[in-house]
Amino acid sequence: MQKSHANFKNRVDSVIKRVKWTKGKNYYFYMRNLESPSESRVKINGREMIMLGSNNYLGLTTHPEVKEAAINAVKKYGVGSGGVRILSGTYKLHEELEREIAKFKGTESAIVFNTGFITNLGTIIALVNENSVVINDEKNHASIVDGSISSRAQIRVFLHNDMKYLEKILRSYPRTQDKLIIVDSVYSMDGDIANLPEIQKLAKKYNARTMIDEAHASGVLGRTGKGAPEYFNMTGKIDIVMGTLSKAMGGLGGFIASTEDIVTYLKHVSREFIFSASLPPAIIAGNIAAIKVIRKEPHLLKQLWRNIKYIKKGLAGLGYDIGNSQSAIIPVLIRDEVKTFKMAQILDEAGIFVNPVVFPAVKESESRIRISVMASHSLADLTRALEAFKKAGKQIGLI
Ligand SMILES: Cc1ncc(COP(=O)(O)O)c(C=O)c1O
Repeated sequence: MQKSHANFKNRVDSVIKRVKWTKGKNYYFYMRNLESPSESRVKINGREMIMLGSNNYLGLTTHPEVKEAAINAVKKYGVGSGGVRILSGTYKLHEELEREIAKFKGTESAIVFNTGFITNLGTIIALVNENSVVINDEKNHASIVDGSISSRAQIRVFLHNDMKYLEKILRSYPRTQDKLIIVDSVYSMDGDIANLPEIQKLAKKYNARTMIDEAHASGVLGRTGKGAPEYFNMTGKIDIVMGTLSKAMGGLGGFIASTEDIVTYLKHVSREFIFSASLPPAIIAGNIAAIKVIRKEPHLLKQLWRNIKYIKKGLAGLGYDIGNSQSAIIPVLIRDEVKTFKMAQILDEAGIFVNPVVFPAVKESESRIRISVMASHSLADLTRALEAFKKAGKQIGLI
């Protein structure tokens, strides 16, 4: 009893010590007070900053049609949804959103959960059990890791995007073994893309199922922003396509797009779906409008990619190591924790909002400034950011 209390206290104390250390050094860049929408320029404590830390990739959070849809839904239905869908009632809006998602992802059907995190948890736990094997890329998102652990399946992890390693794992199980391969299609800290064609080939060869997390791919990858399967020209080939509505869609929620049978199964088995009040109508209406805007306004995707290319070229030209990013997420690898914090500090003083990412989010040798680009950034904003990166890099002796 006493021992576990001591462990608990030690755990809390070590985090408090770390928070105090970062605050004492002025390295604490977390939970900053946003006083404006999460757009390309934000107001933080009365100060305007260029935002390079938002997932609102297409600017849909404040798109007039998205806002109007949400406002109209509040006027018609009020604020809350009144309970869980299976018992208290499903709005037609929920069903319309699920149809829109299925159409967007090119699947038979879709189910909406309350967040992306809960979608991964609720889906993995429902789909596999102690007789299954879940095979994860080492850089998969925390929600996939937690879902895998909670499912009680055997967990195997392969080195990042290493297809030989994945095959070695697959080969070690009989064909009849229940196997689920799960990867982020765009990795959230590095912005690189999973090798879906090869994963699909191996899954077929070894009789495994595939699940991808499209959190940072939906609205970003592919000719019309439909995600990684569109990018690889393999729409409909992945068994379970997961995504969020909180990033490029600008709202909130998560989804699974898959077959009618898998969706019906999840609606009747996933505890995270069944035992949690559904998203409010305003959010659902905003999400529907956002998907329609992505379809109607292809210039947003074009502008996003113009900006991604511009800043990537600028950072690489300055001499920074930006890894292998192929999306709106760009890691600026500093590879030293204190230098990473110092860099964030100098950029902050210059009015540039960035995220320092250090251990335990990444290995210490992979400490980085993580930036994300939006369609709404002007080239002038990005040029200003690049100038700040140049000054900061020289000051710290990185470039
Ligand atoms: C790859 C990935 N999956 C899932 C999630 C969770 O999504 P949400 O924030 O909508 O809960 C995130 C969010 O950071 C993510 O990056």
